[in-house]
Amino acid sequence: MAAVKADVLITGPLLPSLMEAIERQFNVHKLWQAPDRDAFLKEHGPQIRGVATSAVIGADAKLIDALPRLEIISGFGVGYDKVDLEAASRRGVIVTNTPGVLTDCVADTAMSLLLAVARRICEADRFLRAGKWLQGRFPLAVKVGGKNCGIAGLGNIGSAIAVRAKAFGMNIGYYDPCPKPDLGYRRYDSLEAMARDAHFLIVSAVGGAETRHLINAPILAALGKKGYLINVARGSLVDQEALVKSLVSGEIAGAGLDVFADEPNVPPELIKLDNVVLTPHVASGTYETRDAMANLVFANLEAHFSGKPVLTRVV
Ligand code: 8YV
Repeated sequence: MAAVKADVLITGPLLPSLMEAIERQFNVHKLWQAPDRDAFLKEHGPQIRGVATSAVIGADAKLIDALPRLEIISGFGVGYDKVDLEAASRRGVIVTNTPGVLTDCVADTAMSLLLAVARRICEADRFLRAGKWLQGRFPLAVKVGGKNCGIAGLGNIGSAIAVRAKAFGMNIGYYDPCPKPDLGYRRYDSLEAMARDAHFLIVSAVGGAETRHLINAPILAALGKKGYLINVARGSLVDQEALVKSLVSGEIAGAGLDVFADEPNVPPELIKLDNVVLTPHVASGTYETRDAMANLVFANLEAHFSGKPVLTRVV
């Protein structure tokens, strides 16, 4: 007799190949397709033993509470700020994420934003397309080599950014509660002091309540007219209102942003600015990386339901 398939809830659309793989192995419930979410959870919640969710949707305490037999939440993404870890731990629910496999692509995106904003690449592209080259030259931009790169959060992604920035001839400094003396970069114990020195302040720390608005008005003031802010972490790390103010007033030089406070909404003031490069949360968005993330989401579910330890456990 075939083994009974475990019931797995998918909270929102994931890569089709991942959803197919989960559907082959498990009895799948698709939460976002339910016309009445509460009624759906009331009916199916008691059977559900696994959740597959994206970093953006996560799993809040209300969802976890609605699933009394839940054993594992397998997250698509390295960030787990949208998963209520306390509610999960209280119930002994395993939470997994997808670290490592996306490090290179996120670091590449940080460097892309840095280079694009410093060298005015998107602006130059708009200039050419608008036929303005026929009327004159594009203005000069800012050199990257020799400049100070301050990295807020020197975890796997921050370290990969540092390697890239160093290869571009930048001086690396970092702000992180955990010192990494072996890497040989300058460590700051004040984020404000690092911002004062930085020409490019890169945010690559974890999101969540503890780091909310780490980049606020005083940090932006310290970054000043010479400085660019790059964020590939979470919108919550930056006081977006303060950032908009400092960009509009010219208090800082510019910004490269992949993440925002209220995605997918982006303040219209930012859209109007030429010294800002904006991308729609695509840092991990390559075929290769998303496939690797999908494999890990599935491997964690499969390991758990075949009685093996999961591969990448958060709690
Ligand atoms: C998202 C991310 O997972 O890894 C993270 O924490 O934010 C991204 O990689 C991706 O946008 C899909 O939701």
